[in-house]
Amino acid sequence: MDIEFTLDGKATKCPQGLTIAAALFHVGHRTLRSSQRGNSPRSLFCGMGICLDCVLEVDGRSGVRACATLLKPGMRVATQAGASSIASPT
Ligand code: FES
Repeated sequence: MDIEFTLDGKATKCPQGLTIAAALFHVGHRTLRSSQRGNSPRSLFCGMGICLDCVLEVDGRSGVRACATLLKPGMRVATQAGASSIASPT
């Protein structure tokens, strides 16, 4: 069964039971944020919640680890760019 969520304001569907990172890869979205210095694209690195390369904004909260957060119906997911991509401790 598919669930719906928004990615950068665009309605998107993917199978339920995926992490946010897996869901974004499923729909072909590989860049999860850009770096503070130079706006370099970032994506999965460790895939287990340690490196913070995958952080993005979920339901208005920044610094959410895409690889360690289960996607839920209706979530508003947004990629983070530049200075806004600073991860907050969780
Ligand atoms: S990929 Fe390293 S914390 Fe998510």
